[in-house]
Amino acid sequence: EAIKLLTLAGSLRRASVNRRLQRVVSQAARDQGAQVTELDLADYPLPVYDGDLEQAEFPENVRKLQSLLAEHDAVLISSPEYNGSIPGMLKNVIDWLSRPQEDGTPGTALFKGKVIGISAASPGRLGGLRCLLILRDALAKLGSWVAPTQVAVGGAGDAFEADAPRLSNDKQQKQIEGLVREVLDASGALRPS
Ligand code: FNR
Repeated sequence: EAIKLLTLAGSLRRASVNRRLQRVVSQAARDQGAQVTELDLADYPLPVYDGDLEQAEFPENVRKLQSLLAEHDAVLISSPEYNGSIPGMLKNVIDWLSRPQEDGTPGTALFKGKVIGISAASPGRLGGLRCLLILRDALAKLGSWVAPTQVAVGGAGDAFEADAPRLSNDKQQKQIEGLVREVLDASGALRPS
């Protein structure tokens, strides 16, 4: 049975370089035999987390995203770096998803043991490397298994091939494929049978 992989980008912008990186990651995963769901967070708009709102009217989109997370063996995230950290939008999604599920079990159970691979793209030279440290830490605190390999794509304006979901730099493309391989291997090993 194919490993089910969810990919997502930490940017809502249509022309986002991290959406492009998400497509590269998704293609690499399909090439390695995974069943890939390319999630677009713009399809699941969420309010900024507010405990009163949570009590009054738990957002349906959180339920939908919690189900998606539950249904997949692993997640691959491509995120921009904002002011040296992860975008508020992505942190907001993580915070909402960590809240109790419909059956009352903690949302954090969805993250526990989940295999996650992280990557970033930025026009800057470091490629968003600093946000990866923070994202890794946030996910590890939720009990996820974050792949040791991470990829930060700098100079993202010209890092992508025009007519295929690939990075033009071969070495970097291989790093993405290695990250995907690590995630798929771990998913097979950690998946409850
Ligand atoms: C940025 N950008 C940015 N880049 C970076 O490498 N390090 C940083 O700390 C920041 N900080 C930052 C803050 C804010 C509020 C914005 C809007 C942008 C630039 C960022 O990498 C660039 O806009 C990317 O194109 C954003 O990713 P997407 O939307 O193209 O995926």
